[in-house]
Amino acid sequence: MARSALLNVMVQAALKAGKSLSRDFGEVQNLQVSVKGPSDFVSQADLKAEKLVRDELLKARPTYGFLGEESEEIKGTDGAHRWIVDPLDGTTNFLHGIPQFAVSIALERNGEIVAGVIFNPATDELYTSEKGGGAFLNDRRIRVAARKVLSDSVVGCGIPHLGRGSHGKFLVELRHVMGEVAGVRRMGAAALDLAYVAAGRLDGFWEAGLSPWDMAAGLLMIREAGGFVSDMHGGTEMFDTGTVVAGNEYIRKELIEVIARPVPKN
Ligand code: IPD
Ligand code: CA
Ligand code: CA
Ligand code: CA
Repeated sequence: MARSALLNVMVQAALKAGKSLSRDFGEVQNLQVSVKGPSDFVSQADLKAEKLVRDELLKARPTYGFLGEESEEIKGTDGAHRWIVDPLDGTTNFLHGIPQFAVSIALERNGEIVAGVIFNPATDELYTSEKGGGAFLNDRRIRVAARKVLSDSVVGCGIPHLGRGSHGKFLVELRHVMGEVAGVRRMGAAALDLAYVAAGRLDGFWEAGLSPWDMAAGLLMIREAGGFVSDMHGGTEMFDTGTVVAGNEYIRKELIEVIARPVPKN
């Protein structure tokens, strides 16, 4: 399917930032890193990539708002549109030389995500989607996995940052999920985790303590690949709660139920 002009702008911005990240990934030991909070780091690579994406997007659409992880929000004069950007998702992986990280760019129109791009420059994997137009990996259509039962499924997750979600609650969820699935993965870049669900590599995913920039592009990608996304209670408040559960329709009910199971009394 042909890309719209807007999606092309987003792809160009992601490729540009990806190039910068690739260069910095090769010299990761020389990067300046600062600490934003407990186990929460930001490097020169994050900041450079955000500036590249921001400049590129605002040059193309100067009236749109901009919400990025590493800079002050710009409200925009157009009122309807907002870019939501994570310039480097998976900073911890990046700083450890683990090639599982990505640039994530989404476009929101009147509160709804209408386009998304996720690019991992280390593997050259470019995920794109537009509302109503499907989801693609390097221009080939992707679909969520077709596994029908949780016991055959491999499910990704995220461990909340210290101070940004309860480890106790996560461990209860993990214990319950582990008891029902074929495998659990924690790969360390939420945007890519969601892209993997869209591509059918992961059958499902859940995480709490996320921000809009971690998930915006990925949520659209999964919907456009035929899957479901919800908050941890099965609702639609992913941005407000910072929680996400995702997968295909077959496992939807059971996955949400298993994650929400109460702590066993003993
Ligand atoms: C983080 C990653 C990680 C998730 C964290 C995020 P960052 O994003 O997506 O997988 O578990 O909650 O903050 O800080 O590397 O962009
Ligand atoms: Ca971060
Ligand atoms: Ca992130
Ligand atoms: Ca980030």
